[in-house]
Amino acid sequence: MPTQLPRIIADVPLSQATLELLDGKVEILPWQHFDQGLDASIEGIYTFGHPSLDGRLMDLTPNLKVISNYGVGVDHVVLKDAAARGIPVGNTPGVLDGATADMGFCLMMAAARRLTEGERLARSEQFLNYNPARMLGKEVHGAKLGIVGMGRIGRQVARRALGFDMQVSYHNRNRKPEIEQELGVQYQSLEQLLSTCDYVMLCVPLTEQTAGLIGPSQLRLMPSDSILVNIARGAVVNTEALTLALQEKWILAAALDVTDPEPLPRGHPLLSLDNVVIAPHLGSATVATRQKMSELSVANLLAGLQGRTLVHQVV
Ligand code: DGY
Repeated sequence: MPTQLPRIIADVPLSQATLELLDGKVEILPWQHFDQGLDASIEGIYTFGHPSLDGRLMDLTPNLKVISNYGVGVDHVVLKDAAARGIPVGNTPGVLDGATADMGFCLMMAAARRLTEGERLARSEQFLNYNPARMLGKEVHGAKLGIVGMGRIGRQVARRALGFDMQVSYHNRNRKPEIEQELGVQYQSLEQLLSTCDYVMLCVPLTEQTAGLIGPSQLRLMPSDSILVNIARGAVVNTEALTLALQEKWILAAALDVTDPEPLPRGHPLLSLDNVVIAPHLGSATVATRQKMSELSVANLLAGLQGRTLVHQVV
């Protein structure tokens, strides 16, 4: 009799790398809708964000041994519900910091130098001649960058900024003297940082404390020629306030890898503003990083299914 493979339910689509790593080790059921497919036969849940997982859904899978997330942000999993049920939750920190910081820089520079606006013009019938007065942007080198959230990704952003001769400050729940010493970055309160920086980059995880961290009063503090970059989670920023801030030019521009909701409904006013650069959540989307995320998330999943400690366990 062939032994039965543990059955998991997985957020789809799964990457080819993940599929290869799981081949012959688990039986995979695709998971696209909330309650669908969750039952006592499921021993593992492999997720990357879409269905939110709370205690009610966990209770539909009484034999669940592990939740493994393909990514570092686990804001879509109610961690206290998992902890209360003794279900370990794994994620993939460390392997995606560099790619996500690169994306932060890419977005910051695109917004500063009006790249997407310029690209739209360059592809259009309206581009008839070079005009030296056209689309003047804001300098990145030598400017002041404020990083909100000095975790692994924030630190990588700071390292890149130093290569651009930027003056870097940060705000974090706890001060990080070792990073201040290593990189020469300066700690500021959130209010000071927002009111003095040319660029503000959000690198915090989404938690109860950071949801709506940047709302109307915070946006009002930012200088009118400053740029907000969000590589964290959409809900860290109040979308309505940001839309108004960009429409009424409280700030110069925003560069967003993430939005709330995600995706924004088609026709949302943010999508038609020239002073917004927007990407479809591509922070860690490189071939090499995705491969490492597959390896780590599959290692977490298999460890949990076998009752071993996860390589990276959040709870
Ligand atoms: C992460 O790792 O959290 C990225 O945003 C991908 O979901």
